[in-house]
Parts: sequence; C-alpha cells; structure tokens
Amino acid sequence: MHIPVLLKKSIQALKIKKNGIYIDGTFGSGGHSKCILEKINSYGKLYAIDRDPESIKIGKKIQDSRFTIIHDLFSNIYKHCKKYKIIQKVNGIILDLGMSSMQLDNVKRGFSFKNNGPLDMRMNQKNGFSASNWLMNATEKEIFKVLKKYGEEKYSKKIAFHIIKKRPILQTHELHKIISKITPQKNTKSSKRTFQAIRIKINNELNELKNFLSKVLQILAPKGRLCIISFHSLEDRIVKKFLFKNSRKIPNLPKNIPLTIKELKRIGKKKYKLRIFKKISPTKKDILKNSRCRSAILRTAELK
Ligand SMILES: C[S@@+](CC[C@H](N)C(=O)[O-])C[C@H]1O[C@@H](n2cnc3c(N)ncnc32)[C@H](O)[C@@H]1O
Repeated sequence: MHIPVLLKKSIQALKIKKNGIYIDGTFGSGGHSKCILEKINSYGKLYAIDRDPESIKIGKKIQDSRFTIIHDLFSNIYKHCKKYKIIQKVNGIILDLGMSSMQLDNVKRGFSFKNNGPLDMRMNQKNGFSASNWLMNATEKEIFKVLKKYGEEKYSKKIAFHIIKKRPILQTHELHKIISKITPQKNTKSSKRTFQAIRIKINNELNELKNFLSKVLQILAPKGRLCIISFHSLEDRIVKKFLFKNSRKIPNLPKNIPLTIKELKRIGKKKYKLRIFKKISPTKKDILKNSRCRSAILRTAELK
C-alpha cells in the first residue's frame, strides 16, 4: 500500500475546520482523505478527485455520506465545484502530486525501470497514448526536447538518438537497457530522469498543475488553505511562482524607474490574495520511515 507523504504536516497545514468543505485533488489510496474525514464532523464535506480508475475503485468503497469521489483530472476542479455549488466555499484543498506506490509498483503500468512490464506510464490507461506508442511516433528532436526539459537529462541527445534506432520499444527493461548501455554504468540516474520525463509528457503533468492553479483562487473560501506537495523542481517552481505572484502587492519593478500617478494608483488598489507559510521538507526521520518522501516539498498558502 501507499504510505502517504508528509501526512501529519500537510493535515496540520490545512488547519481543518470541523464543519468545513475540503477537496483532495489526488486521492490515490486515500491516505490524506481518510485523515481529513477523521477531522471533520457530520456537517463537513470531502470531495476527492483522481484520474486513475484504480483509485476510484478504492474511493467507491468508502461508504460515508460526507464523502464524494470524482473520476476526473484535478484541472477540472472548477467545473465540479460549480456542480456541487461550493464555489468560494472550499476551506481547504490538497494536492499530493506524482505517483502512488500502487501505480509505481504495478508492473503492468510501466512507470518503473526496476520492474519489467509494458512501457505504458498512463495514469489513466483508458485515455491517451502509452509511452511506447509516443516513442514510436515522436521525432528524435521531440524526444530530445522532452528528456531535456522534463528530465533535465545530460545525455538527452544521445538517448533520443538510440531510442529512434532501437524502436519499437515495448517493455520498460528494453528502454532501461538502451539507456544503461550509453550512459555511465554505475548509476541509474539517467534511467530515472528519462522515465520521469516521459511520464510527465504522457500525463501532461505540468499543464495539469498550471491549469489547476489558474482556477484555484476562485474556489477557495476566505481564509481557505491550499496545500501542495511536489516531488521535483519543475513542479515546485510552478507552485512557488504562483504563490509568490499572488502574495505580492507590488510587482517586481526594475530599480530607479519612475512610476506615473496612474501606475501608482493601480498598485495601491491591488490586493494581496495569499498569505504564504514557510515551506516544509521531510526530516531525516520522515525519510527513514518512507524513502519516497526524500524529494517532497510541502507549500501552503491561505486566501485573505
Ligand atoms: C502521490 S498519489 C496521492 C496519494 C494520496 N495522497 C494517498 O495518501 O494515498 C498521486 C495521485 O494523484 C493522481 N493524479 C495525478 N495527476 C492527476 C491529475 N492531473 N488529476 C487527477 N489525479 C491526478 C494519481 O493518479 C495518483 O493516484
């Protein structure tokens, strides 16, 4: 089973109101959701979203009138809030990004180079195209760009060249072997980064996060909290940029450039939207208990 990352700290960060309305945008196996349900009373509500049908099966087993499970992308959050008439009423939203152990450890999902299985990597296997399919049809330049941008992989060019030469690549171990042969032997970093990059591309992960953020402030109630746990710098950069942009009254301006009266008035009228809390990283003890949380960062903000 999946061990939830930074569980206690993220639930504390949500500052749960007993009769509040909450959204868990990444239900997974329900670790965070179960904790929220323990903290709310019979007037409270929890809506949980996940794109993976396997997670939805788990969610449907929760028989609790306060709980609703939704099979969709979290970028569609606004549509669901409208449907349930909870726009500007949500007291807290949590996203625990990345994959669940359920996805990572299932060889049929193809997320890990450690186990051999079909090279799929879709979080919802009923939609879109598999990693194997994408690698078969993409150009060398497209593959190179994805590995460079989403994996920050030093050997992107070389790996893309060899993928094209060896395709079709149907199994995770085939891809891992190609990478191992052409990159320094002792570590598996290049495989890790390549798999991460392809997974981000296949699941459109960064756009999902950006689209979610573009709507989230319209959904939260005053004093509502947003907690996001991210697992790599690309995600964290997006979250951090969004929080800072919406917490600053005065935009970053080049020094020594005079402002017009009109500009000064506009800045004066601008309201801070978010109060940001200090980011939280796992302690050594957290990492010992759950090595998956090694790279996790929890960022929290409150709507004013
Ligand atoms: C790290 S797991 C969450 C684990 C969960 N917090 C728990 O305690 O069990 C991430 C989950 O988010 C889901 N997910 C990732 N991106 C998504 C998206 N854009 N929309 C909906 N669900 C998404 C994945 O399918 C996965 O089940």
